[in-house]
Amino acid sequence: MSTTRFLTGITTTGTPHLGNYVGSIRPSVAASLRPGVQSFYFLADYHALIKCEDPVRIQRSTLEIAASWLAAGLDPEQVTFYRQSDIPEIPELTWLLTCVTGKGLLNRAHAYKAAQDKNAAAGREQDDGVTAGLFMYPVLMGADILMFKAHKVPVGRDQVQHIEMARDMGASFNHLYGEHFVLPEAVIDEHVATLPGLDGRKMSKSYDNTIPLFCSREQLRKHIQGIVTDSRAPGEPKDTEGSALFQIYQAFATPEQTKALRQAYAAGIAWGDAKQQLFELVDGIVTPMRERYEALVQDPARIEATLLAGAQRARETATPFLRELRAAVGLRSLAQTRATPSAKAAKTALPAFKQYREKDGKFYFKLVAADGRLLLQSTGFDAPKDAGQAIAQLQREGLGALDGRCTLAEGVAQAEVQAALQALAEAAAAKE
Ligand code: TRP
Repeated sequence: MSTTRFLTGITTTGTPHLGNYVGSIRPSVAASLRPGVQSFYFLADYHALIKCEDPVRIQRSTLEIAASWLAAGLDPEQVTFYRQSDIPEIPELTWLLTCVTGKGLLNRAHAYKAAQDKNAAAGREQDDGVTAGLFMYPVLMGADILMFKAHKVPVGRDQVQHIEMARDMGASFNHLYGEHFVLPEAVIDEHVATLPGLDGRKMSKSYDNTIPLFCSREQLRKHIQGIVTDSRAPGEPKDTEGSALFQIYQAFATPEQTKALRQAYAAGIAWGDAKQQLFELVDGIVTPMRERYEALVQDPARIEATLLAGAQRARETATPFLRELRAAVGLRSLAQTRATPSAKAAKTALPAFKQYREKDGKFYFKLVAADGRLLLQSTGFDAPKDAGQAIAQLQREGLGALDGRCTLAEGVAQAEVQAALQALAEAAAAKE
């Protein structure tokens, strides 16, 4: 069976809360136990530096997040579990990708645009307070993903654009230097609930409405008592729809338990009793993990050793792969200098004709530039042979010969097409 590689990163800026557990930790740990799956989970501490300038908090958060994942059942024998900053190949790959990434692509990143919009709204200069780190965030993330040839990247919806950008970077690199990268796909688990927070909005640090995953029992009880409810009195039937309390319960309960609470809502359970039930349910699940968590946090040296062992394993892949990539771009030992450039390198940077059939049943061709841009588009031909002959004629006689049977793509000059045709002719001649 071929294995699918899953990879995801966790930014080390905060303390895990119940929403992180339900939305990310629990499903990721479960996924890592499935057969045919190879998992890479890592602490994205380079990313954390973009958002947080407090060194103590970065270190503390790294410890708490690592301990939380281990306490929740992550098995570092099964999962390659490491800290991003222990892999020097990642910033090195970031630079290689930086050089094939359009600045315009990064301009379109949601997080960067949001920062600009905020400045515009406040009447400030558009890049005010924006670091180059924030701008480059997607490239660092692309390096994380492409480094380990991940097929699937489980993320929240807000991260999907970043995975698409990683695909773009990988495709640009492959196009220029040959097939080195696997193009990743985002996975959003539709079954995973987004947990509401104390105020009913999505549980998130930015709304300050979270319940920490590993606080004391008493703290947990207090937090749960603080969940907003409506003002219906005991005995009055309650709505499960829109009830944060109910949704949090459901995220932890078995279907039978959920059904029982639904009935209790209809029967008019008092909010205080419903909160008590939620507390007992969550506390029962968290308690064994909390004990492991406390033990882990008391022994940071052990976590450090676990992370270093994970990094060593990750580098068994990263080190040789980066060597391959360096050679591909030309960062090569001079002792291996070749007299002539390799035929393969020349071949990968050529324009190409593509023939295809459309839904209308007709046969078309187009000419695309070495960088993938469309240069020329034909009209429909009745048979593939006719399209082939038109291409041959175009190559023999130039663009003028095909009047009316093809059109230049928007913004493309005739000279550019002629140059592409010439490059193809020269490459063909060199092969003979
Ligand atoms: N940016 C991600 C987040 O904020 C964290 C992250 C960093 C990540 N590198 C990654 C996620 C690579 C998936 C893959 O959630």
